[in-house]
Amino acid sequence: MTACSPNNKVINETDTAVPAKADDTGSIEVGKDYHSFANPEEITVTHLDLDLRADFELKQLSGTVALDIQRAQPGANTLVLDTRDLDIKKVTVAGEAVPFELKTADENLGSALYIELPNNAERLLIEYQTSPSASGAQWLTPAQTAGKKHPFLFTQAQAIHARSFIPLQDSPKVRVTYTATIRTPKELLAVMSASNDPDTERDGVYEFNMPQAIPSYLIALAIGDLEFQAMGPRTGVYAEPSMLQAAAKEFEDTESMLIATENKYGPYGWDRYDLLILPPSFPFGGMENPRLSFITPTVIAGDKSLVALIAHELAHSWSGNTVTNATWRDLWLNEGFTTYLTYRIMEMIYGEARYNMEAVLGYQDLQNDIASLTSKDQILAIDLRGRDADDVFSNIPYEKGALFLREIEQKIGRDNFDTFLLQYFEDFAFKSITTDEFIAYLKTTLLAQYPDKLSAERIDLWIFEPGIPEGAPVPESDAFVNVDSARDAWLGGNMSANEIDTNAWTVHQWLYFLNNMPEQLNDKQLLALDTAFDLTNSKNNEIAHSWLMIAVQNEYKPAYDRLFDYLTSIGRNKLVKPLYRELSKTKEGKAFAKKAFDKAKAGYHPLTVSANEGFVN
Ligand code: BES
Ligand code: ZN
Repeated sequence: MTACSPNNKVINETDTAVPAKADDTGSIEVGKDYHSFANPEEITVTHLDLDLRADFELKQLSGTVALDIQRAQPGANTLVLDTRDLDIKKVTVAGEAVPFELKTADENLGSALYIELPNNAERLLIEYQTSPSASGAQWLTPAQTAGKKHPFLFTQAQAIHARSFIPLQDSPKVRVTYTATIRTPKELLAVMSASNDPDTERDGVYEFNMPQAIPSYLIALAIGDLEFQAMGPRTGVYAEPSMLQAAAKEFEDTESMLIATENKYGPYGWDRYDLLILPPSFPFGGMENPRLSFITPTVIAGDKSLVALIAHELAHSWSGNTVTNATWRDLWLNEGFTTYLTYRIMEMIYGEARYNMEAVLGYQDLQNDIASLTSKDQILAIDLRGRDADDVFSNIPYEKGALFLREIEQKIGRDNFDTFLLQYFEDFAFKSITTDEFIAYLKTTLLAQYPDKLSAERIDLWIFEPGIPEGAPVPESDAFVNVDSARDAWLGGNMSANEIDTNAWTVHQWLYFLNNMPEQLNDKQLLALDTAFDLTNSKNNEIAHSWLMIAVQNEYKPAYDRLFDYLTSIGRNKLVKPLYRELSKTKEGKAFAKKAFDKAKAGYHPLTVSANEGFVN
């Protein structure tokens, strides 16, 4: 895809892409962003002014972005931006067209946009339009929403999809402030990862300002029939009207979480903290867009059992949004710290028993990934060269990262570790940090302070080697002891399913009960469980997921209607992908998966489509 306005000359640039190719086997250049073509070390974009119109008929955003730039290298005049499937119509500086060239697209990275700037230009304007199949946006028809009356749009920029709706330097090393004017059909409301005014007049023109510099992956927009309900002085929820009450109730502890977290880890630096409840096709559980986390509706369980997700997205306000991973190789600095903080927040709000149960479940997820991932992919500082940045999504950056921090906590003491974290968030506030910079920081702080408790070798083992280092902490929960006994007694034929006393079981105990079943169960056993506990009809999406995994592994057909319904009504990848993977292992399962996928595909997010189509074709 090459675009060049007729009156502009094509820039004389070589076609060599900046990032490394897939066959690059040399050593990693630390701090280099292999997932961006941009050249911030020469010219840095510091601010964006967006003016975009959302056209729901064409499924396109169109308009302009103005970029403020600073020369990091005096005299540099070639600005390189990231784009993906964008139609770049015109680039101007002070009203005059300037030459630009869109390079041939790389499958993972999109197309580099080269712009030749006049000397001393400090601002440029790009007129552009997105593609209806932009990887970072999902356009939903009214039928795909809760209300069924109005269309919906949401963006999901992490990891490298901002470039599919804005031409920019799409690297977490680069931070920008932004303003936006978003034009929508009158009856809809637009919200962004910026200042949102819940009382704004619904007139189809919405203004936003994000005065704090953020990495591009945190730029986010949603448009729909949204209403707002406050949950506390600084917290509230946006959702479609029919979801609003239930969401506000489910997440009513958000304000307490916010207060507890800032008491431990320093002031919340982002003004308001609101939640946006998305339609069920949202491909993630949550996304930490600043001031406005995007949340899947699949966690509204009615009993707050799945609200760790909120603690997680909130925690990113410190680890991720304030201190940011410099490249996607360093994702564990975002997700590992955040997972560690999530456990701590859950403990502060719901107590130690919940903390322990969630830690055990997380640890088990980690062990499952370690059993199935290649050793290369078990490394915290993962080598992603030539790979899709979304490939980093496993429990390694999350749970292995958190376990590493838990070990440090246990070795030096919790209070000392909290003091360290508080200082770390302050020292790196509004900065992007590499794994290597983090290690260097550890050396001057904790390693110097606690030389008899911590060692550089052990830290390298955690960060650069696969697996879990021997002697790592193993989370334990008392609440799971009787669940193990019940499962054992039932499997051993010493107790019928009806006799298991599950009355006081929490959702976590149910998950532990199901996730630790042997892989093979017979029809009689499956039917006994289902008859006693009505698992096929569980309203809790996580319990349903665990049960459906068992059903697929054992071809338990009475659950397949529910399975079909589940796969065609939920787009959260973490919930559907393991089911597709499991189904694809048999011919019959694959045919079933294909039927569900074909029906669901039109409603799935582009990321859910690409993550699962390989299983059905
Ligand atoms: N930032 C992530 C989502 C993400 C990570 C998107 C990497 C793209 C690339 C978000 O905070 C997250 O971790 N979501 C999890 C939450 C869970 C671990 C509680 C999810 O969506 O499942
Ligand atoms: Zn996260």
